[in-house]
Amino acid sequence: MPGDDHREEGDSFPERTNLVADEGGVRTDGGSAAGADDVALDPWGSATVSNYRNLFEEFGIEEFDHILDEVPNPHYLMRRGVIFGHRDYSAVAERLREGGDAAVLSGFMPTGDPHIGHKMVFDEIIWHQKQGADAYGLIADLEAHAARGLSWAEIDEHSRDYLLSLLALGFDPEEGELYRQSTNREVQDLAFELGAKANFSEFEAIYGFDGETDVSHMQSVVTQMADILYPQLDEPKPTVIPVGPDQDPHVRLARDLAARMRFFKVTEAFASFEATPAERSLMREAYEALGGADADVRCEAAADHLRADHAGEVGAEGAIEKLANAGKEPLRPRIRFLDRNATSEAFDALIAAVDGEKRVFDEHVDAFDLTHDEAEELAREVEVDNGGYGFYPPSSIYHRFMTGLTGGKMSSSVPASHISLLDDPEEGYDKVKAATTGGRETAEEQRRLGGKADECPVYELYAYLLAGDDDEFATEVYEECVGGERLCGGCKEQAAELMEEFLADHQEKREEMEEVLDEVDIELESPRRRG
Ligand code: TRP
Ligand code: SF4
Repeated sequence: MPGDDHREEGDSFPERTNLVADEGGVRTDGGSAAGADDVALDPWGSATVSNYRNLFEEFGIEEFDHILDEVPNPHYLMRRGVIFGHRDYSAVAERLREGGDAAVLSGFMPTGDPHIGHKMVFDEIIWHQKQGADAYGLIADLEAHAARGLSWAEIDEHSRDYLLSLLALGFDPEEGELYRQSTNREVQDLAFELGAKANFSEFEAIYGFDGETDVSHMQSVVTQMADILYPQLDEPKPTVIPVGPDQDPHVRLARDLAARMRFFKVTEAFASFEATPAERSLMREAYEALGGADADVRCEAAADHLRADHAGEVGAEGAIEKLANAGKEPLRPRIRFLDRNATSEAFDALIAAVDGEKRVFDEHVDAFDLTHDEAEELAREVEVDNGGYGFYPPSSIYHRFMTGLTGGKMSSSVPASHISLLDDPEEGYDKVKAATTGGRETAEEQRRLGGKADECPVYELYAYLLAGDDDEFATEVYEECVGGERLCGGCKEQAAELMEEFLADHQEKREEMEEVLDEVDIELESPRRRG
């Protein structure tokens, strides 16, 4: 199967390890000291990350590599480690593999021209759409107005450009949906509901907002939360949000809000009282040690067991106290449905729907014959049947930021550092020709030592864009470079020509898409007052 081929190519792809390993922090460190503690993730700050590894350790983003195998027909950005991290992407990958409902959504602030960094996200949306996911692209006009101070006229102009490029790259507007935040009433309504579950202290902690922060800026945050959950309004489904890691604070908040909206929380328990995860794992331990399902295990006996064998461990003190207080109550593993926001009808419906042995309390129901997954599914079904949303926590995937062509970071305010999708093809050619490279001082040295492809923005252009789906070509450039067979002059000439061709082709397609865009149901002229 083609899937297998891809894996093999992915596995032997040399620069993937270099891109992912990143221990020395060479290229992706963007020149700053390796290991520097510059890991604040700020959605409105400058988009640099000094050390991608810290994102795993400090923020709990997971390594994409670990789940690459689960993805059918993975995109080249996945195979090459450009998409380096994720949250909960397995839920989406499973649907892509097995054919259930899934969605993809990302948003763009129309603050300037769309550039080759945005192209990565456009490609990610389009790829998911081609794999069968419901696809959404949105213009974050409220955010651009509130957080960046753009006028509506500027926003209208740039919005068109983003949409044309997304269409030109292959987004199917008949299958997918394009919208702008300001005119999507459903998004606004959902934002309002979500706003009831978040408060200012939290915004302060997450985003560093303070007494000077505009109310509209805060509103743009709840709007983004609504964007992220919007694909689940008709029906809950695993949804992936492809973004840069600077957006991770938004993703985490959206995952929290999705959970806070749920009618029921499904957890595990061992007796009538609540316990922390650490306490629960000790209780499981005691339960098994004392004979498990075959024995009649009592809480007080479990307390004794923990006192004897687990004193001092994390959670032991709490577990022992709770178990001792419960005395002769039987200790038995069970699934617990906690009532979070359920209406009384929904709570009754849940009780009726739980099969097998169950015990009903004021604010929870314990089920003895359900697995965790069955319980999750049941909780969602009852919620949706009773007028709730039943949201899945949204998933995310994170891509690396491209290095600027002039070294340092790619910045929209430094035209030479990036290539706009609207640049004249000749201008694109010139920018590539003028780019910084990872080459040596002299040709002789380059032949002897090889070039430093891992530190070369031109190599990045090949890997992120110019080589397209052709892993062999990207590998060849890499190996020829580090092997000293490739010299920068010729290499840049080739890249510049490919860039010129890409831009010419892309712009031709953009023109063809003008008509298509006219047919799309989206307001291209803001109905708002100027200013
Ligand atoms: N905040 C994003 C940015 O800075 C734009 C955005 C708005 C977005 N809503 C979104 C991104 C939903 C992903 C999903 O560019
Ligand atoms: Fe970069 Fe190409 Fe020079 Fe290697 S040969 S350092 S990839 S420009």
